[in-house]
Amino acid sequence: MSVLFPEELAALEDEMFAGLAAIEDRLREEIKSDYELADITARHLVEAGGKRFRPLLVLLASHFGDPKSEGVVPSAVVVELTHLATLYHDDVMDEAEVRRGAESANSRWGNTVAILSGDFLFARSSKLLADLGPEAVRVQAETFERLVIGQLRESVGPQGDEDPIVHHLEVLADKTGSLIAAAGRYGAMMSGVSPELTDRIADFGESIGIAFQLSDDLLDIESEVSGKTPGKDLREGIRTLPVLFALADPDTPPRLRELLSRAITDDAEHAEALAALRVHPAMDQAREVLEQWADRARERLTALPDCDAKSAMVTLVDSVAYRTV
Ligand code: IPE
Ligand code: IPE
Ligand code: MG
Ligand code: MG
Repeated sequence: MSVLFPEELAALEDEMFAGLAAIEDRLREEIKSDYELADITARHLVEAGGKRFRPLLVLLASHFGDPKSEGVVPSAVVVELTHLATLYHDDVMDEAEVRRGAESANSRWGNTVAILSGDFLFARSSKLLADLGPEAVRVQAETFERLVIGQLRESVGPQGDEDPIVHHLEVLADKTGSLIAAAGRYGAMMSGVSPELTDRIADFGESIGIAFQLSDDLLDIESEVSGKTPGKDLREGIRTLPVLFALADPDTPPRLRELLSRAITDDAEHAEALAALRVHPAMDQAREVLEQWADRARERLTALPDCDAKSAMVTLVDSVAYRTV
């Protein structure tokens, strides 16, 4: 996803690049360890890149207050470190082999090292957070709880008479929306924005975060160039929204239904399911839900005061909804 703001936002874009560069320096500083293995494994995914979507949102949110406030850069680092830690853990859970175009930590060093490396990053994130005050610590704790519950609920699936689609959207809000909401919240909080406006910015983060995950799940089916293994969710038997819609559709052919009901380990079957799913109406249904969440994010923005950061957020919603990588 390339975030390119329109021409009239060039000055803000320059500030974003400068801010992201400062965050990058601080991020690398904060993960250094005297213990070589921790140093190497932590650096591995930081150096592999990533979109830095959450730090960007911290920076944009900070423009509703004083963006030069001293808590802005460290809070962005806290969010990216938390995100990174969850990726180490998520790749263990999802048995992912590729992350950010690089070998995943679990694939390279095994699950134990990957889990502990994620913990190391959480530790460093918490350490940095301690300097940002008790309210910032509370936000992190509440966010982390939602994230973990989201991952847990995804792992066990809908229970009893829970509707699978409602369950799924709640999972996305918890596992992904929560941290992106926290990114908006930190940017606002740290730059002295009023509590009321901070809540609105966090709400925007939550909605764009859900759209972000929906878009990512569509890309898992559509894209060959995401920096992750295409069709990974199908291989793992993870039911993302297009799969849930296809399973709920009485016109889905029995063969596809059977394939989507389980993990698909066989390469030929995987290619078959991927090809059939790509042309199934469930893809458009899932795109519609993505569009609804993008609209909700745009709606949230109307409650924010007009400024360049708000215009940039409008662009950000489009780049999430229509992203191709
Ligand atoms: C990956 O997040 C996990 C999801 C929420 C889909 P990103 O897509 O932001 O991953 P990086 O940071 O760019 O690697
Ligand atoms: C991402 O979960 C959310 C978290 C890491 C908490 P996914 O499993 O959907 O993301 P990818 O596809 O591995 O990036
Ligand atoms: Mg995963
Ligand atoms: Mg996962």
